[in-house]
Amino acid sequence: MKKRIAIIASGSGSNAQKIMEHFKYHDQAEVALILSNNSDAYVLQRADNFEVPTHVFDRHTFYQTDEITDLLTRLQIDLVVLAGFLWLVPKNLLDKYPNKIINIHPALLPAYGGKGMYGDRVHQAVLDAGEQESGITIHFVNEHFDEGEIIYQARFRIEPGDSLEVIRFKGQQLEHQHYPKVIEGLLKKM
Ligand code: GAR
Repeated sequence: MKKRIAIIASGSGSNAQKIMEHFKYHDQAEVALILSNNSDAYVLQRADNFEVPTHVFDRHTFYQTDEITDLLTRLQIDLVVLAGFLWLVPKNLLDKYPNKIINIHPALLPAYGGKGMYGDRVHQAVLDAGEQESGITIHFVNEHFDEGEIIYQARFRIEPGDSLEVIRFKGQQLEHQHYPKVIEGLLKKM
């Protein structure tokens, strides 16, 4: 049986798109479900385009019930992939999927992580600090923001004069290039 991936995303879902593309014709793994806490998220449209089932949940369901954990178990999900999802993962879900929930962050953790550090806020902080490089981090998820064990990092140079848009673009390119492959590598070991 193919390994089954669930992706949780809140927004555009460009990473989800790359992951669905990567596994569309894969013989060992598939994207089995896309979940979102935002019923307007463009990622849900992307999922429809790939005929991947979707599920929308709210804060109460996520934190006060076992509904999401039960759904993932029922669908025999092997790996949970966060891709632009900003809520802490509750203990019941972490316990059910030990070292099987991963996240991508648009900077070189442990720098520029933590609560409130997401998307352009991260790139702006990197720019304000005058850094000469930034990158991406893929890590296991634990009960704290951006603190789980690091699985993979990739870096890019920040050239003098690079704008926030340029930095965002360089980071996105790396995310799209590496996240599907890192997921594939993890699934092979499972
Ligand atoms: C990605 O750049 C990801 O690294 C970031 O959200 C973006 C989602 O983009 N995540 C965080 O900042 C987490 N702290 P996408 O919806 O186009 O995949």
